[in-house]
Amino acid sequence: MTRRRVAALISGRGSNMAALLAAAESPDYPAELALVLSNRADAAGLAHAASRGVPTAVVESRAFRDDRAGFEAAMDAKLAGHGIEIIALAGFMRVLTEAFVARWDGRMINVHPSLLPCFPGLDTHARALAAGVRLHGCSVHLVTAGVDEGPILAQAAVPVLPDDTEATLAARVLAEEHRLYPAALGWLAAGLVRVEGGRAHVAGVTTAAGCLANPLPSAPALSTR
Ligand code: GAR
Repeated sequence: MTRRRVAALISGRGSNMAALLAAAESPDYPAELALVLSNRADAAGLAHAASRGVPTAVVESRAFRDDRAGFEAAMDAKLAGHGIEIIALAGFMRVLTEAFVARWDGRMINVHPSLLPCFPGLDTHARALAAGVRLHGCSVHLVTAGVDEGPILAQAAVPVLPDDTEATLAARVLAEEHRLYPAALGWLAAGLVRVEGGRAHVAGVTTAAGCLANPLPSAPALSTR
């Protein structure tokens, strides 16, 4: 089996990148993490990747403040230098230009901490709490020009509990990101993903049965007056 060469792009903690790396340590995973690229030299995830022997690189976005094309050209040079075939955005907090997205069309995925198209952008957990949704979660999608848009490969839903804070909800969602993202990257790397009419189809995966509901629609204990 040829393993596809993947770059994880990070801006910070890198826990999703670490989950991809852990999955790629299995010899039958269809991708290898060939590069971890950050737009910040102080991204904590860089040290983890280096400690596991993964090549790392930094292209400081701050150095290209008014020159996004220059920033992306510098990133493309690193990606080409490592023979990268697929990009996995993993907490990469820069908006990419249409030209960069077009160059990586069908070969770049992102994990986002909400059930898209709800709550694109930042502060998704606080916004989910404020909106009062009962189910929240994460999405993995192919990257297109709009921020947090693009055909959705997979989603995982978690309940929002009555006493949740932003931190408790974020932790519940993050645990699912760590399960979903390696699976979805594996599907893309194995060539199982096909896009038709703006929707992604994944060949041979098991779809969920039944439904998720929160609270459960069992009869509440009704008090009699
Ligand atoms: C993750 O929750 C990821 O979904 C989110 O940033 C966090 C990065 O954490 N990404 C976005 O919001 C992108 N729109 P990590 O660095 O520990 O993986």
